[in-house]
Amino acid sequence: MSGRSSGGGPWWRDAVIYQIYPLSFRDSDGDGFGDLNGVISKLDYLVEVLGIDAVWLSPFFKSPMEDWGYDITDHTEVDPLFGTLEDAERLIDEAHRRGIKVIIDYVINHTSDQHPWFLDSRSSRSSAKRDWYVWRDGRDGGPPNNWVSVFGGPAWTYDEPTEQWYRHTFLAGQPDVNWRNADLEEAMLDVVRFWMDRGVDGLRVDAAHQMMKDPLERDNPPAPHDYYRPWRNMGEFDAFIHLYDMADPAVHDAHRHLQSVVDSYGRDALTVGEIHIFDLPEWASYYGERLDQLSMPFNFHLMASEWDVPTLRATIESVLWNVPAGAWTNWTMGNHDEHRMASRLPAGHERLAATLLLTLRGTPVLYYGDEVGMVQGHVAKSRDTWGIQVEGFSRDGSRTPMPWEPGPGAGFTAPGTEPWLPIGPDAETRNVETELVDEGSLLNMYRRLLALRRGSKALRRGSFLSDPASTDEVFVYRRESDDETKTVVLNFSDEPRTVSLSPGRIVFDTHDPGRDASIVGPVEAAPLSGVIVSHR
Ligand code: NOJ
Repeated sequence: MSGRSSGGGPWWRDAVIYQIYPLSFRDSDGDGFGDLNGVISKLDYLVEVLGIDAVWLSPFFKSPMEDWGYDITDHTEVDPLFGTLEDAERLIDEAHRRGIKVIIDYVINHTSDQHPWFLDSRSSRSSAKRDWYVWRDGRDGGPPNNWVSVFGGPAWTYDEPTEQWYRHTFLAGQPDVNWRNADLEEAMLDVVRFWMDRGVDGLRVDAAHQMMKDPLERDNPPAPHDYYRPWRNMGEFDAFIHLYDMADPAVHDAHRHLQSVVDSYGRDALTVGEIHIFDLPEWASYYGERLDQLSMPFNFHLMASEWDVPTLRATIESVLWNVPAGAWTNWTMGNHDEHRMASRLPAGHERLAATLLLTLRGTPVLYYGDEVGMVQGHVAKSRDTWGIQVEGFSRDGSRTPMPWEPGPGAGFTAPGTEPWLPIGPDAETRNVETELVDEGSLLNMYRRLLALRRGSKALRRGSFLSDPASTDEVFVYRRESDDETKTVVLNFSDEPRTVSLSPGRIVFDTHDPGRDASIVGPVEAAPLSGVIVSHR
């Protein structure tokens, strides 16, 4: 794919993105940790077998791994756990040779406390880099204000030698950089230039709305009980309304500056911001009034929605309504911070969810392993440093090794090597090799769906119109481009359901790979199944 796509506009409007958590994808050197050569060895699977268009790689930069790479000590070096800079360059080349794009993680809000910038900043109050981070005097013998870290505890740590507190939105080992300092900004934009010069096609911008906070650093008000709908219990972080410790209006200028650097390369690179904001107009403000900020904010609304037809329909329509004219969104059902979708959803709903994700208007973002139905792993010895230890929540469980084949090591690592996280509980039956030879498997359903989307302008680019006659159990919507119409029928009921549609041809059934019939009149959808009908 070149920078512009055949449908006009940037390539990513036509793409399906696949998130790889490199530590868990494929271990090429037998140390139990996935690495970049492991990713390279699976590019043919991604392109020729699965059929995705772009990969997003979680961080592989030099790091003490307190937050598994989201704590960086050198943005321009690859951590030895993952390989070398040459491996990263080769990965980009090999992906491009196969026609797929590479998106990297850009950790904008913080570095590791071992980063030379922070070591310098910490060394004395008069360090030239003191102001590259956020240092403050305390208040009444405690931290400067009541802000708490996402991972629990105060967002400030006292540093004895210089008798000041530094701010950290996440772990104490992840000090926040100060984007209000022009030299820091330039140094961080140089990181972007470094990777753009090496050919990357996009950035997933970590904690993108959190990088700018209230300049007056006012206390956050306490959150009333039940203020947050419990999509995910954030422990102590949920005790406050985050009025002042995120999303300061200055964030929009910072994003504009970043975007202008990316745009200066003139190849329509994608910038997608990790923006956990659920107020839709505010969320949409991250496109910028002139669409001059990030290409798009991550759209977590589907993942956060209640899982029933009326709520999903309202959620989808509200998101699309709020996407500004001329802009584009994305959809996702999972990532390395959330429970695996197969374990979150009610039993038997995976195929419905996959069909929804891959037939909406917007770029789908798949999470590695969801295509074989990976379930949440049980990890006895936590490797995740998220301190809040909220009952029932660990990120380890959604980061377990990709199961490539049955047997010891699951094709992720050498048999006999202990993988960094245990192989998931279902790997013997839910793995690439086993599913590929089973025509009716989930993996083969994903492949059919991805191929259908790739070949259909209506599914990639078409308008979205939901049928007002959709019931509480059956969700019906239409995707339409100039010369093509597709109707998607999703039956959430555990009984068969029949829907009247205009004449057409069944081109996809979640459970019946061979279903291919003309219809004139009603179409039947089996329990918990999806059907796609092509009308022109
Ligand atoms: C969001 C990332 O997705 C998460 O994994 C990480 O722990 C935090 N940001 C801090 O970088």
